[in-house]
Amino acid sequence: KTIRVFAPASSANLGCGFDVMGMALDGIGDVLRIAISEGDGLTIRNASAAELPEDIEKNVITPAVRAFMAAAGKKACLEIVVEKKIRPGSGIGSSAASSAAAVFGLNELYGRPFPLPELVPFAMEGEKLISGTAHADNSAPAVMGGIVLIRGYQPLDMVRLPVPDSFCFSVIHPHIVVSTKAARDVLRKEIPMREAVTQWGNVGGLVAGIMTGDLPLIGRSMRDVVAEPYRKGFIPGYDDLKSACLAAGALCVNISGSGPSVFALSDSIEKAQQVGKAMKKHFTALRIANDLYVSHI
Ligand code: HSE
Repeated sequence: KTIRVFAPASSANLGCGFDVMGMALDGIGDVLRIAISEGDGLTIRNASAAELPEDIEKNVITPAVRAFMAAAGKKACLEIVVEKKIRPGSGIGSSAASSAAAVFGLNELYGRPFPLPELVPFAMEGEKLISGTAHADNSAPAVMGGIVLIRGYQPLDMVRLPVPDSFCFSVIHPHIVVSTKAARDVLRKEIPMREAVTQWGNVGGLVAGIMTGDLPLIGRSMRDVVAEPYRKGFIPGYDDLKSACLAAGALCVNISGSGPSVFALSDSIEKAQQVGKAMKKHFTALRIANDLYVSHI
């Protein structure tokens, strides 16, 4: 039996929601072909231009697949062909998309033994391999779609939020390298009370804005005092880029996950395209190659 599956890229954090909010990005993602036959074993073949580790023990798909098979109590010979469309290290959930596609595909092949939220912890095993932390803010939206709030990690408690109708995104991936580990190492381990108050006010405002479709409230709430001020130095000219996007009509602009991608939300596709142009102009002027994605969510 074979299946061909797609899992979307995703943008983690959504500004203030460090490690607890994530959103699937429509139209960008990874495709996996999974063939299953009798026996026991796993092979992974790369059918894309992206560089992937030769050793399957270093591929994020491997721990995700093993976690699924162990929980389902199955043994099989699995051949997975990866058509990677998202560049690794982009900050738009490249590893989560591959792990999510693998566990989603297996679940389909076995007749859906698990409901979607129960697939998320398997996909998170891939995140653990790549960044050392099993954060769910890319895996959850990659598996479940839409916007997901991770209310708690122990136990994993996720809430799928509605996507406001006119939500459109512009995401730019400048081809610079920012490792998730480096981007986590620059963060403070303790946060002063005043800033914590700002942050949880924003997270509450963001969730309320998403629930009620109040886009200006979302725009005001997406501010982040925990990660952005410490990470923006990784992205050349970040403050200028942000001002240019806001001037082009974006509701809010922030770093996507741990970067280097930057995302902006707008309330129409026309504005998202204008914002995309401003993003492209910024990195092209700095002679930094980039990929731009603009779509509805
Ligand atoms: N929430 C994580 C971080 C996402 O910001 O480090 C990593 O992609």
